[in-house]
Amino acid sequence: MCGIFGYIGPKPVKKILIDGLEKLEYRGYDSAGIAFMNQKKAEVIKNAGKVQLLKEKLDSVEIVSTIGIAHTRWATHGQPNSINAHPHKVGNITLVHNGILENVSEKRIWCEQKGITFQSETDSEVIAALIYLAKGNTMLEKIETALQDIKGSYALAILCDGEEKIYVTRKDSPLLIGIGEKECYLSSDLSAIPKDIVEYLFLEEKDIVILEKDHFKVYQNGKEKLKQPEKIKREEKNIEEMTYEHKMLKEIEEEPEVITRILNHYLKKQLPNLEKYSEIHIVGCGSAYYAGEIGKYLLETYAHKKVLCEIASEYRYKNILYEKDTLVILVSQSGETADTIAAMRKAKESGIQTLSIVNVLNSTIARESDQVLYTLAGEEIAVATTKVYVAQVLLFSLLTYQMLKEEKEKIREEYSKLSFYIKKTLERDQEFKEFAKILYTKKQVFFIGRQIDYALAREGSLKLKEISYLFSEAYPAGELKHGTISLIEKDFPVLTIVTDSSIFEKTLSNIEEVKARGANVLTITNQKTGNLLEIVLPKIHPFLQFFLVIPCLQKIAYDTAKLRNCPIDQPKNLAKSVTVE
Ligand code: G6P
Repeated sequence: MCGIFGYIGPKPVKKILIDGLEKLEYRGYDSAGIAFMNQKKAEVIKNAGKVQLLKEKLDSVEIVSTIGIAHTRWATHGQPNSINAHPHKVGNITLVHNGILENVSEKRIWCEQKGITFQSETDSEVIAALIYLAKGNTMLEKIETALQDIKGSYALAILCDGEEKIYVTRKDSPLLIGIGEKECYLSSDLSAIPKDIVEYLFLEEKDIVILEKDHFKVYQNGKEKLKQPEKIKREEKNIEEMTYEHKMLKEIEEEPEVITRILNHYLKKQLPNLEKYSEIHIVGCGSAYYAGEIGKYLLETYAHKKVLCEIASEYRYKNILYEKDTLVILVSQSGETADTIAAMRKAKESGIQTLSIVNVLNSTIARESDQVLYTLAGEEIAVATTKVYVAQVLLFSLLTYQMLKEEKEKIREEYSKLSFYIKKTLERDQEFKEFAKILYTKKQVFFIGRQIDYALAREGSLKLKEISYLFSEAYPAGELKHGTISLIEKDFPVLTIVTDSSIFEKTLSNIEEVKARGANVLTITNQKTGNLLEIVLPKIHPFLQFFLVIPCLQKIAYDTAKLRNCPIDQPKNLAKSVTVE
């Protein structure tokens, strides 16, 4: 949700800022802008649209400045146009902001009464005005005063005309600082900072950092505090050159490798023992929540645990009567999702143990949860998650596996072939394309299944709507006849997942019900159903069978979006990391 970047040091800032923004573009891409110090004044260049447009605009601009801040936006307050794009300048204050100012109306009126005329509809410009108007002898005092009684979340990088410094602060929104040789970077996440930077400052809530070329100072409540940078070992691998048409495709193709990496790492280890908890709550958003649904099914079915799986934005406001021995598992690719962070803090405040399943190293959830299991999937850039979802469900599978009482050897043997099975499944490209050819002309789709097949259907349906903009809904196959079946008419596509042999016949009956009403049924199964259009997967151990369905659903969504000419890696209105509520 909005990417913030900044640099202060000896190098000209233009290329550095653009490179940073390109890496952060997954966080939002409806407008972008930069500000740099030019003869002691901050100059702003910004426009609507993607970073590429800004880059083209900057081609003809010579920038010698070595101090600058930058922003790529996911609109919250106000249309995604160039006026609302960041940076915002009020008087001598120029800033970029990620987050949401909740008491914006009241603050806007107050600023207007003090003579401010706002240019944009954004809450961020209001923050700039509050700092500009704030009382204080120094910028530090002004920032502290301005932020004192604002409600909401913020990550801010601020320039002040006449000063060769960048002021940085955050609350409930991610921001970190990379410290190099006489230079500092600031960024919403680690991936945008050059890999040769090894020292990092992770800001506590409401820390204010003053960055100068050759040093930094950290303040909390007006007082300087000593804070040592942490050394972080970054992944050696540089992001590979694009040999795939889309990053999403590349990331799907990486799944066999991710599976091997996770199994090599975790099968040798003792994972957290869930045996001792009387109840497990799994919490996440979007695909992470759907991965949790798979986890719930596995833990309930094979480990006989009592599990609740909840959407984080609901969980955080629920009145939860925790059993003493509850474990809360937070699932998040980014580790920065605002609602999931709030859910984690809620559990911690109640004295409940937390375990996170996170992809991004050192992210807020990884750092604050009591225990963390990293998904080791590597950087995921496409907004729609694929390889990380696979990694998340694999971790749930491993957590369950270690509690199994039977067939452990057999399943271990099957784990060793899982990567190969996924690779083979991915080779069935023609079959996915056949499905996509049917779906891409339609206006709506139903996904149906029972039990774990339903959990898979929910993620499959989300994937399709995220990237192809087709209306799609996942339903438990047995529930359709209680209302929704009224929508079925001739040629209505119903994608059915049927791999769970214990309820195979039941789902077949549901297929017959929709067929009888003219539905165009597509099936993904491990046992022939007799349906004309079906992908028949090899039968593997039931504990791992569901894994083979995942790449099919991802590729079908991908191929459908491609036929519909959609911007697959950056779908409209979405952002990969949702750091606002
Ligand atoms: C956004 C993304 C989804 C993602 C969800 C949770 O909505 O568009 O793809 O599943 O956030 O993100 P997280 O980083 O917590 O897994």
